[in-house]
Amino acid sequence: MIDSDTNPRFFDLVGNVRAMRRLKPDPVPLGLLRKVLDAGVNAPSGQNTQPWAFVLLTKPDAKQWFAERYDAAIRSRFGAVVEERDTSSPMGRQLQALRYQMDHMHEFPVLLLVCGLRDWPFKVPAEERVGLAPPNYGAVYPCVQNILLACRSLGLGTALTTMHQVFEEELHERFSIPTDYGVVVTMPIGYPMGNFGPVRRKPAADVTYFGQWGNTDSGTYR
Ligand SMILES: Cc1cc2nc3c(=O)[nH]c(=O)nc-3n(C[C@H](O)[C@H](O)[C@H](O)COP(=O)(O)O)c2cc1C
Repeated sequence: MIDSDTNPRFFDLVGNVRAMRRLKPDPVPLGLLRKVLDAGVNAPSGQNTQPWAFVLLTKPDAKQWFAERYDAAIRSRFGAVVEERDTSSPMGRQLQALRYQMDHMHEFPVLLLVCGLRDWPFKVPAEERVGLAPPNYGAVYPCVQNILLACRSLGLGTALTTMHQVFEEELHERFSIPTDYGVVVTMPIGYPMGNFGPVRRKPAADVTYFGQWGNTDSGTYR
C-alpha cells in the first residue's frame, strides 16, 4: 500500500518542484532523460490515446537557433519589463531568473519540446471545427507534470516555457514537426545552479468549497 505514512517523500517532493531557470551547461546522460520521459508517458489520457511526442534539442546550432527566437519572442511581448533590475519583490526576482534563462538558453544541455497531437475538444461541434485543432492540452499537461516530478526526483532542474508559440510555425519547419502535432511546452533541462526549495502557493483550503461555491464551512462535509 502506498499512502502518506508509508511514502512521505512524495509529499516533500511535490511541494518542492519550483521552476528552475538557472541551469549548468554540464551534459545530462541520455539514460536519465529516458527515465524522465518514461515517467512522463505514465500520464493518463482520454481513451488512452497517449497523444504526446518529444523532440530533444542538444546540438549547439539547434539550441542557438531556438534561443535567438525565444529572446526575440519575449522582448516582443514584454518589452522593457525584461530589463527590470529590482530584486526586492518576488516578481522582480522572477524576471531576473527569466532573463538568465533567456541569456543562457543556448548553453543549457537539453531543450525538450513536448508535442501534443491535435484533437478537437468534445464541446466543439463537428460543423464548427475549422482550421487546425488545438493540441490535446488536457493529456499533455499531466505528462508534463510527471516530467517535472521525475526531473526533481533525479536532481535535474527544469521549467515550463511556452513562449515558442510566437514562432511555432518556424519551429515546425526547422525540426520537421508534423502539423498534426502542436508544440505545447519547451522545457530546458539540466543540473540546477540553485536550490530546489519549497514552492509558494495559496493553501488548498482557501479555494475549497463544500457543497456549493463559496461555502468554506468544513463542518458541512460528511
Ligand atoms: C501553462 C504554464 C505556462 C508557463 N509558461 C512559462 C513561460 O513561458 N516561461 C517561464 O519562465 N515559466 C513559465 N511557467 C512557469 C510558471 O511561471 C511557474 O510555475 C510559476 O510562476 C510558479 O513558480 P514556481 O514554479 O517557481 O513556484 C509556466 C507554467 C505553466 C503551468
